[in-house]
Amino acid sequence: MKNLKLFPHIPLTVLILTISLSAFSLDKGKGMKDLFKGKFYIGTAMNAWHITGKDTASIRIIKQQFNSITADNCMKSGPIQPEEGKFNFKLPDQFVEFGMQNQMFIVGHCLVWHSQAPKWFFVDEKGNDVSREVLISRMKNHIQTVVGRYKGKVNGWDVVNEAILDDGSWRQSKFYTIIGPDFVKLAFQFAHEADPDAELYYNDYSMALPGRREGVVKMVKELQKDGVRISGIGMQGHCSLDFPKIEEFEKSILAFASLGVKVMITEMDISALPSPKDSRGADVDSRVEYKNELNPYTKGLPEEVEKAHAKRYHEFFDLFLKHQDKISRVTLWGVQDGQSWKNNFPVPGRTDYPLLFDRNYQPKSFITSLLSGDKADKPKSDH
Ligand code: GLA
Repeated sequence: MKNLKLFPHIPLTVLILTISLSAFSLDKGKGMKDLFKGKFYIGTAMNAWHITGKDTASIRIIKQQFNSITADNCMKSGPIQPEEGKFNFKLPDQFVEFGMQNQMFIVGHCLVWHSQAPKWFFVDEKGNDVSREVLISRMKNHIQTVVGRYKGKVNGWDVVNEAILDDGSWRQSKFYTIIGPDFVKLAFQFAHEADPDAELYYNDYSMALPGRREGVVKMVKELQKDGVRISGIGMQGHCSLDFPKIEEFEKSILAFASLGVKVMITEMDISALPSPKDSRGADVDSRVEYKNELNPYTKGLPEEVEKAHAKRYHEFFDLFLKHQDKISRVTLWGVQDGQSWKNNFPVPGRTDYPLLFDRNYQPKSFITSLLSGDKADKPKSDH
């Protein structure tokens, strides 16, 4: 490793990967999945156009670049059980089939989340909150039906999504207010019963914030004390050019890994746009009014911003490679910029550039520098 010091201007990602692999190129059919093999899975989220095969350009990229997939929406409780007892498995079945056919690590997302849950889940026929017992039984039925259907096929589940707030306290969701903090433990138990071999995760955003980090560590310790099986912690990784600090992100990787669970980056994207204050996380309920100054790059990214964006991706991937012994998967939240949720969050109607492929399905410089030995300024070491 001492040779690495000779090339301080070259990102560690490029150095490590170009030293260990000879010339890769997009044309030769090699992708990030080959580069990161033996280090961590590299994944993407699949939307309905991908799953149904309509977006053939994305499908080509997914097969070439990724070896793990997460369903972006179709497995959430709203879409999958829109009415009590009526399950809509059409897209989820196709999603799982795609993953199996392509030998991918398949992630089910997500079983228990306050958002995109159907209204009926929490209320009785008069519209009043259901009792604790009823909500537990609905949660059990939901989890066991969904996990049970894909037993032995889906490799890991985001069991609970976003239960903790920035200050480490509990989110006052219906699951929390009606069941109490035990809803997390119960959800993991129900999922484990339905598929004892599946990995089970807790997943959340803004995980680099000290308050949330500490809150999640505390919650996971409690689960472990109670003998609940939890395999990993997902750090969503919705980032921007200036948030969060890499050092804080690293502290969370270390804190979570020290619990003896796998750490994964589950929904990564890096917004290239100004992040309005107070909405830097990924709280789906936060919204900021559109203003032209918040949407400065409608005609394309200026070169210096493009460079800063690529550098930011390199810094994060340097960190992931540094901790590859703790990180089992890095998943990007989508394939190409035009389809990213970031174009409408937290400000609607913007033109953002958060992913690794542009609106024309072309790889960004981050990927080409990783995949092409030539462009990566290959060091003249004898490795
Ligand atoms: C959260 C959820 C994801 C997705 C994003 C927004 O991070 O976990 O499923 O809904 O918000 O796209």
